[in-house]
Amino acid sequence: MIIVCQKCRTRFHLDDDVTDQSSFVARCSVCNHLFSAFKPIRVQEVTFLDLDHARQDHANDHVMTIGNRKGGVAKTTTCLNLGVSLALHNKNVLLVDFDAQANLTLSLGQKQQPTFYDAQKAFGRPLDDFIIETAYPNLWLLPSGRNMVLLNKLYFGAQHFEYMLKDRLNTVKAQFDFILIDTPPSIEFYTLNALTASNRVLIPCQCDYLSTHGVDQVMQLIRLIRQKANPQIQSRILFTMLDPASHSSRLILSKIKDLYKGQTFNTVIEMDGSLKEAQILSMPAIHYSQKSVAGTQYIELAKEIIANRDDSLQSAP
Ligand SMILES: Nc1ncnc2c1ncn2[C@@H]1O[C@H](COP(=O)(O)OP(=O)(O)O)[C@@H](O)[C@H]1O
Ligand SMILES: [Mg+2]
Repeated sequence: MIIVCQKCRTRFHLDDDVTDQSSFVARCSVCNHLFSAFKPIRVQEVTFLDLDHARQDHANDHVMTIGNRKGGVAKTTTCLNLGVSLALHNKNVLLVDFDAQANLTLSLGQKQQPTFYDAQKAFGRPLDDFIIETAYPNLWLLPSGRNMVLLNKLYFGAQHFEYMLKDRLNTVKAQFDFILIDTPPSIEFYTLNALTASNRVLIPCQCDYLSTHGVDQVMQLIRLIRQKANPQIQSRILFTMLDPASHSSRLILSKIKDLYKGQTFNTVIEMDGSLKEAQILSMPAIHYSQKSVAGTQYIELAKEIIANRDDSLQSAP
């Protein structure tokens, strides 16, 4: 490994086994400065249950990534409220919090639960052991937490790392009618794994000018994933936080609808203050208030998604 003195910038070559600590204090032999040094983290090999199965197409799956390269566009809000709405339609739903910030987990009032990282470390144990019940009927959660950042550090770039989530979800997906995966804005380990595991992508898009770029970027990524790992993946844009009174919002909505014809949901989610109030109480909007405008719109979205899925199952060979 190479360490660099933080004062005089002299570089030193050390044997990797000089210490087994991940960080240590070194004294520079040139300027005598004491500084902290870190051992480089080696990318770890991934262990799979059944890589061949994970690499097959699963066209009729019911796994959906909620993704956009932009933050603050309602990915987590959509994952939670759509999940609850599908569950209210008597569907068994698993929410996968695949963002190390763990906002989805916190929104469900959960803290410090074992995560997918723990499941990966305890490889002999079934994924079922790490899925927890939520306060809402038919709704389950695979939580996230602080240690999820280690997945990116340890596995990003390892051979076939993008199949890790799909490999484990394959063991539980028969138990659920829908699996929704919440993702961070960055690509790295999490979004690539989520997209590889999914056959559907919901792209939340706030009706402002910059959001159109986020949609472009995620569409490019989906095209790449379609060529490389997952030919069956299909995407649809969901307009979120729409202010119906705003002329510019309506202009952007019609521009994106034109640009991505047939790839947008009919349901639109409007700006709604009750959603924020619900969030403060760690509640989904519809459970907070049955009159919530956005809550009702997420129920409509669930209906649209169930109908689309029924259609695609009927037309499947
Ligand atoms: N329809 C809506 N009306 C009002 N506020 C919303 C709506 N949807 C999301 N928000 C708020 O926007 C913020 C960002 O949402 P979030 O779901 O965390 O975005 P992301 O996961 O994309 O970063 C949150 O404070 C959330 O409460
Ligand atoms: Mg989020």
